[in-house]
Amino acid sequence: MPAKILSGKEISADIKSELKAKADSLKDQGVTPRLIMVRVGEDPASVSYVKQKEKTAAEVGVDSETKVFPEDTPQETLLAKIKELNDAPGCHGILVQLPLPRHIQQDPVIEAIDPRKDVDCFHPYNVGKLLIGNPYLLPCTPHGVQQILVRGGYSPEGKHVVICGRSNLNGKPLFGILVQKKTGANATVTVCHTGTKNLADITRRADILVAAMGSPKSITADMVNEGAVVVDVGVNRVEDPSKKSGFRLVGDTDYEALVDKVEAITPVPGGVGPMTVAMLMWNTLTAAQAQSGFSVE
Ligand code: GUN
Repeated sequence: MPAKILSGKEISADIKSELKAKADSLKDQGVTPRLIMVRVGEDPASVSYVKQKEKTAAEVGVDSETKVFPEDTPQETLLAKIKELNDAPGCHGILVQLPLPRHIQQDPVIEAIDPRKDVDCFHPYNVGKLLIGNPYLLPCTPHGVQQILVRGGYSPEGKHVVICGRSNLNGKPLFGILVQKKTGANATVTVCHTGTKNLADITRRADILVAAMGSPKSITADMVNEGAVVVDVGVNRVEDPSKKSGFRLVGDTDYEALVDKVEAITPVPGGVGPMTVAMLMWNTLTAAQAQSGFSVE
């Protein structure tokens, strides 16, 4: 039997309508939630991601604006802009789109963001709070993975979750969420990476397998168990002359092979991607709520 398709597009639509109600409630209390994004340079993927975030913000009633800087912007200029946004009372969330140009160091930029406005949840303060089980916000893609599982009917509680990939963006914070003794988490979590020996032996023991290595189609059918639930975090552009853009998106799993074998799987595109953007709006509303002292329930 073919796998159940876990549609991030559909699940994120439900979440977005819940968020819209929360944004309306905040506005009724005189607070307009506002997200400021900063993009440096013209990396095509970043341009496209930021556009998507602007569109979703408008859908849920979050006011958004993007500050665009040229590729050769000095680091000090970027840090000065972040300081200005930290001090701007009407701005509840700050997002600096990554990757940054090579001459700009990422860590000082992330650490310059006021943790209360850190809607990506990248600041070491927020990462630390997540790990000790007392989060302020949750990082967007890992939170999206958790939501797609829980809302798709596959709660990670008590399951063996195998995460392939240990990035600060995805693998490590997903571990931080799913390992907590909390509803929708409380999983046994294994994190695999480039130093892992006998990877397939471990991935085959997963109840839930999360592919987040950033390597196209690397999880093949022989690496998964028939009952597995597979979440594909990968977004890889591969050349495709038949497309107008010249490329198509593929995940980190061999979707076409897995879909006939596993219990459930997320597609690429239309899986984790739309969840990430919805979770960013979730964080913007939580940040706006925290900074205004109002309830959004
Ligand atoms: N680049 C790729 N993914 C992300 C993300 O989630 N946040 C930011 N700020 N940059 C990214």
